[in-house]
Amino acid sequence: MEKNKTLEVYSRFEICPTRAKGVYLYDDHHIKYLDLYGGHGVISIGHGHPHYIHTIKTQLQKISYYSNSVQMPLQELLAQKLTKLSGYDDYRLFLVNSGAEANENALKLASFHTGRTKVISFTRGFHGRTAGALSVTDSPSIFAPINQHHFPVIRLPLNQPAPLIAALKQGDIAAVIIEGIQGIGGLDVPSDSFLKLLSKETKAHGTLLIIDEIQSGYGRSGHFFAHQKSGIQPDIISIAKGMGNGFPIGGILTHPSIKSHLGMLGTTFGGNHLACAAAISVLEVIETEDLLARVYSISQKIKFALSSIKGIKKMKGDGLMLGLEFDFPIKDLRRQLIHSHQIITGASSNPNLLRILPPLTIKLEEIQPFFKALEEILSHH
Ligand SMILES: Cc1ncc(COP(=O)(O)O)c(C=O)c1O
Repeated sequence: MEKNKTLEVYSRFEICPTRAKGVYLYDDHHIKYLDLYGGHGVISIGHGHPHYIHTIKTQLQKISYYSNSVQMPLQELLAQKLTKLSGYDDYRLFLVNSGAEANENALKLASFHTGRTKVISFTRGFHGRTAGALSVTDSPSIFAPINQHHFPVIRLPLNQPAPLIAALKQGDIAAVIIEGIQGIGGLDVPSDSFLKLLSKETKAHGTLLIIDEIQSGYGRSGHFFAHQKSGIQPDIISIAKGMGNGFPIGGILTHPSIKSHLGMLGTTFGGNHLACAAAISVLEVIETEDLLARVYSISQKIKFALSSIKGIKKMKGDGLMLGLEFDFPIKDLRRQLIHSHQIITGASSNPNLLRILPPLTIKLEEIQPFFKALEEILSHH
């Protein structure tokens, strides 16, 4: 097949998955790979979950799409299930198609609500590649000239109270946006005390707190949302990745004090029937399989096993969103894992950090080959 018809923007491994089940991918040569990355943390309930397939198939046969100009009981059902399971009963849901779009709408809503124009974000934060989401992202190499002066952004160091307090005092700050756990930036976690301070200070200044749970949410940390370990409630929570287990869907949950009016936000595809069915089935599986408790317990076991492997300098992250830091670049290690051991892992902007984001359903015996492979590779290092 001709291979130069798609725009070349991705560096890709030389494997071609054609089938997937549970925590495994199978390529076009029938080789089985252990998926410890879930395609950037998207696979939450495992590949090809029977309930997920059944729900989507059944919905497809009824109606797959209509625009937001008609009644959408599936959106209401999804919102009810999500707010109940996440403990945000009185919040409201607005649905979109991706993470960047979720943040784009979160930022816009914060600006509508406050009438303000500036945003605070954090060093090594990543929020997406569309104009607004990119403006609050700390990654100059993916900025086009057109993105340089989108709106004023104050970028602050994570977990440092003094610069935050000083920046909020400048005034005109619509929102502070922060990841529940940093993803591509290298798995740094906002401390409990910093999140509590953020919550208190944003309230005091009439600024909205947006927590980007696009990667860290949907049970990945062992809580429904990573920030819930700190007992705070942000004004807006953005969600995507694990929400649809691969079906494109994202959204924002908004505090009841944030008012909307007709026409304020909108999207053609967001919240369509098929996407809602996928997202509903994911929540049903998270609930019936008690995945939050399972993530917590397996994460403890994984961390324990990893702690005895010599050569891992530091473990970062939480739950099933883990970063393993080495004192050398992990590029070759990742290649060896995939090509010699058939184990897929992720990278981050820290060249020495391996990123692990397995499906939340993973069992200890399924991840065991990863420990063995690491030990073997590291013994030759
Ligand atoms: C924390 C976070 N926010 C936003 C995004 C953007 O999501 P999407 O690629 O679906 O636009 C990502 C994607 O990696 C992410 O990790």
